[in-house]
Amino acid sequence: AQGSTLDRDSTTLSRHVLQQLQSFGPDAQDLSALMNRIALAGKLIARRLTRAGLVEDALGFTGRTNVQGESVKKMDIYANDVFISVFKQSGLVCRLASEEMDEPYYIPENCPLGRYTLLYDPIDGSSNVDINLNVGSIFAIRQQQGSDLDQTASDLLSSGRDQIAAGYILYGPSTVLVYSIGHGVHAFTLDPSLGEFILASENIQIPAHGPNYSVNEGNFWQWEESLRDYIRYVHRHEGYSARYSGALVGDFHRILMQGGVFLYPGSVKKPEGKLRVLYESAPLAFLAEQAGGRASTGTQDILDVVPDKLHARSPLVIGSTEDVSLVESFIKEG
Ligand code: AHG
Ligand code: MN
Ligand code: MN
Ligand code: MN
Repeated sequence: AQGSTLDRDSTTLSRHVLQQLQSFGPDAQDLSALMNRIALAGKLIARRLTRAGLVEDALGFTGRTNVQGESVKKMDIYANDVFISVFKQSGLVCRLASEEMDEPYYIPENCPLGRYTLLYDPIDGSSNVDINLNVGSIFAIRQQQGSDLDQTASDLLSSGRDQIAAGYILYGPSTVLVYSIGHGVHAFTLDPSLGEFILASENIQIPAHGPNYSVNEGNFWQWEESLRDYIRYVHRHEGYSARYSGALVGDFHRILMQGGVFLYPGSVKKPEGKLRVLYESAPLAFLAEQAGGRASTGTQDILDVVPDKLHARSPLVIGSTEDVSLVESFIKEG
């Protein structure tokens, strides 16, 4: 009916957050305003990506290398700055840490430390940016613990169970924002004509099993024999389909919606793998568990991993409970 469509279209992200929290107290208001700023960041990045081929200086490399040892794209820096600038005037998030920054960024003016911290991957899958394939932004919100007056942000080195909220924005044929504040996983689609993220689906559940397995098989030669045995298993059994886009957010979104498993395993030479705990694995693990799925290093729940440094990495096996457990059974046999 017309009414319900209008109701849906007026369920904006900030309204949805308040409804989720069933309270309109100061914390609820803060988180609602905070999610609204995340949405603004998503809109600004989506706009830039849509016009990237047309505006000067949007694509290509900066020539710099980041703390990860990766060549930095211009879009990485643009998106990194977008998140800083949307929170500058907010007074909500006073400390930001991201894949692209060696140290956390502190917002000096009118920002009472002790509020929320944003951990983020401004552009995930940046190898896709220059070829117009899907990329994403990943975010996690934590309450700052302690004063951090010496600005070491050591309170961030805690497990993913300290996350208050997490989510991602997927810049694909449409721009989709997926989030959870601990009350289920919900997806919003950006309506560019409105400039609003409109509720698309609530309480998304990952099927217990799915056909997709998502892993870069080009790394097969680097893997432990136990993991190779898992790959041989899916090669030999009907009903599996390989899907890998080179961008974690897009690969995870497929798993969230259709089930299956994404893996970025460790290798013999790099047992910790490639993906970063604080702003890639932990936020997605938060979502996976909220959606009835699982996320593991292969031997331990991702949400129990305590990073030893800001840019700590961990292996990631994430998705349907049955598929994650199957991978673990191969790894545990060792
Ligand atoms: P980012 O672009 O933020 O550095 O992340 C890239 C990550 C992740 O998005 C993706 O799953 C993975 O790198 C792909 O790595 P490979 O190219 O080694 O498969
Ligand atoms: Mn990177
Ligand atoms: Mn990434
Ligand atoms: Mn990135």
